[in-house]
Amino acid sequence: STSSMTIYDEIRRGMIPAYIYNDAEIFARERKNLFSRAWLFVGHESEIPQAGDYVVRRILDDSFIIVRDEKGEIRAHFNMCLHRGMQVCRAEMGNASHFRCPYHGWSYRNDGRIVGLPFHEEAYGGEAGFSRKGARLLPAPNLGMYNGLIFISMDPDAPSLEDYIGDFKFYLDYYTRQSPSGIELRGPQRWRVKANWKIGAENFAGDMYHTPQTHTSVVEIGLFREPKAEKRKDGNTYWAGNGGGTTYKLPPGTLEERLRYVGYPDEMVERMKATWSQEQLDVIGRDGFMISAASLFPNMSFVHNWPKVEEGSDEDVLPFISIRTWLPISEDETEVYSWFAVDAEAPEEFKALSYKAYLMCFGSTGMFEQDDVENWVSLTNTAKGSMARRLLLNSRMGILKDGSPVVEPLGPDQFAGPGVAHVGYGEYNQRHLLHRWADYLESEYEGVDFRALSIGGEP
Ligand code: FES
Ligand code: FE
Repeated sequence: STSSMTIYDEIRRGMIPAYIYNDAEIFARERKNLFSRAWLFVGHESEIPQAGDYVVRRILDDSFIIVRDEKGEIRAHFNMCLHRGMQVCRAEMGNASHFRCPYHGWSYRNDGRIVGLPFHEEAYGGEAGFSRKGARLLPAPNLGMYNGLIFISMDPDAPSLEDYIGDFKFYLDYYTRQSPSGIELRGPQRWRVKANWKIGAENFAGDMYHTPQTHTSVVEIGLFREPKAEKRKDGNTYWAGNGGGTTYKLPPGTLEERLRYVGYPDEMVERMKATWSQEQLDVIGRDGFMISAASLFPNMSFVHNWPKVEEGSDEDVLPFISIRTWLPISEDETEVYSWFAVDAEAPEEFKALSYKAYLMCFGSTGMFEQDDVENWVSLTNTAKGSMARRLLLNSRMGILKDGSPVVEPLGPDQFAGPGVAHVGYGEYNQRHLLHRWADYLESEYEGVDFRALSIGGEP
């Protein structure tokens, strides 16, 4: 009977308990069973190009210094002093050969090794009392990179990052590898919204359905060449590995014509042709689908769009890419990190205009961003109420009551990408994302015994 079903069972049949979007106990489970295990995006190597460059990024309450050491190796140090636990680095980004703790002055090289310990002799009797040998800022339990994207997992036994991303790698390349040089990032802009973190991740993964309603005004002011909102139903949604996203269907044309149609200059088109696989090119050139928004489970999202940046000619569309994370602060607050991304080999003029296009649409001043957040704050508020706590939301768009699909998945001759894809509206990806979420929350994770990592030697 349905009364014995757990919330995870409900989610697996596409019924979503509304309270999961604003509940302290759910958040505690997310902290323990999800964010302590999954791979989480913290930055990109282009943010720290020189030796000593660093950024400080968080995973919930844990702070990490992501730094390029003197040898050029990228490291993630737990930002906590070995002495009394002070946060060692308090700046958000910079360049440093050493980090010195503000409390008692212990200092560390940028590769993490301790170098200075004031009054070592007088206070500890030198090495006999506290051996500096081998003492270093704790490394993040797990560090992985893909296309220059830097991820941390708090689980030392996590599967490899590549395995975790799985076939979503195919789609990641559209956002992060348009040429062999990959992307460079600007930002991030960072701000907080009073909304649950899952809502943004779900929206970017698959919510083509909200565009015609939520973003009507953006379309009405003429930011797009075509009546884009209505076009959403012709696009598709795909899910592969641990991520999924949405596309727009482009007008008939060759690969080159379609890439030019969204605003890429010829030299960038040539580099894409030389960089992407035949299947990656076929998604655009043969099948006519252009990558739009996407999410990698749990909380990283992407967007690719091509608004007009100048009044006038229809040719003045400019594509931009944004990468973002939805960092949970609590069950009803999220810190949004929004980066602008662009092909490192793109012409400087393109980079400048693409950045302008990004700022117009996304980021703290972006028109889409503001439309979206209004909904998400409201949804989070509503989810807290006592009526809402008893309600299941129907997230079965794309499935008939008897369980059969509204439309069949696209075959390999219709869509060259891996995973499963459907044309038109459907909450396929929101369900995929929440199924992953249910899998994590349902299986208890005890975490690592950090006593094994105790520091400075024991007596
Ligand atoms: Fe860092 Fe004492 S807490 S030096
Ligand atoms: Fe939106």
